[in-house]
Amino acid sequence: MEEILARLEEIEKEALSAIEIAHNQEALEEIRVRYLGRKGIVNAILRGIKDVPPELRPTIGQKGNEVKEKIQTALEQRLKALKQAELSTGPRLDITLPGRRAYFYGTLHPITQTLREICDIFLRMGFEIAEGPDVEVGFYNFDALNIPPHHPARDMHDTFFVAKEAKLSPHFPKEKDDILLRTHTSSIQIRVMKNQPPPVRIIAPGAVYRCDADVSHTPMFHQVEGLLVDKNVSFTHLKGILTAFMEAIFGEKIGVRFRPSYFPFTEPSAEMDISCVICGGKGCRVCKGTGWLEILGCGMVDPAVFIQVGYDPEEWTGFAFGLGVERIAMLKYGIDDIRLFFENHLRFLRQF
Ligand code: DAH
Repeated sequence: MEEILARLEEIEKEALSAIEIAHNQEALEEIRVRYLGRKGIVNAILRGIKDVPPELRPTIGQKGNEVKEKIQTALEQRLKALKQAELSTGPRLDITLPGRRAYFYGTLHPITQTLREICDIFLRMGFEIAEGPDVEVGFYNFDALNIPPHHPARDMHDTFFVAKEAKLSPHFPKEKDDILLRTHTSSIQIRVMKNQPPPVRIIAPGAVYRCDADVSHTPMFHQVEGLLVDKNVSFTHLKGILTAFMEAIFGEKIGVRFRPSYFPFTEPSAEMDISCVICGGKGCRVCKGTGWLEILGCGMVDPAVFIQVGYDPEEWTGFAFGLGVERIAMLKYGIDDIRLFFENHLRFLRQF
């Protein structure tokens, strides 16, 4: 009998250490069959009970059941542990590797960013934002701005026409007029002044269209128009506001100058230059050796325009300006080809 008990204990130890190193479910099942199966080792030993005197059999039976229970419990615990381990590691994954940056979030287009920056500066100076339609009638884009039919300035605008001499409903200023894509945001000046009495202090951002394409021209680009009308507005105010704007967008050190120019809707007219942002005014390829860059057109509102919109030019004066958003973005970010803004290559856009 002692021999059987010792054998049972030995088997228990053997089974428990096998269970401990089993690394998957199949191995555990094999161990269960081997030790606890109907034809397993434990039962085989217990079969030797028939050679033991009857009064000693219960002791052996009890020991046999104990061993079976211990092995069973060990199997269950190991199985649970294996399942847990599988859950916590999941698929093989090296969490020490550096992460890959996710590029699926959006950012604002550099032109939108520049446009907003420009608007913010003027909003801080008390300007309000005005809007107008991209598809415009000839009257607002040309006539009312003192550019009558056959005026040479019309040729310079490379207009995209939607319809020539279209018959329009009576709510338009002319019964028959061209329908076109606006060639500049100056059309919005007229719409604003026709809709409200002076004083006026607006900026009008928007897309404009011209049939033109090369490194510095795209068929669609953006302008911000400005218009300030009040009593006793002078050219000094124009210079002050535009100088403050250039310093806000290009930095305090930027140099500015105004050159006489011509626009049909302003008198006098000027073009504003800034000192070259690339060479600082010394002269380089970008400023063609002059040290200066043309940045916008401006002037005092021509009395002829005031008369068109019903403002009294004896009582009111004002100034207007128009600047190109792409041009400012190109100079700010040192971009030498305007087409990059519209090709929408992500490698270009992600830099902003
Ligand atoms: N509309 C002009 C252009 O597109 C720019 C401009 C010049 C606007 C002078 C103005 C101005 O308001 O006063 O070329």
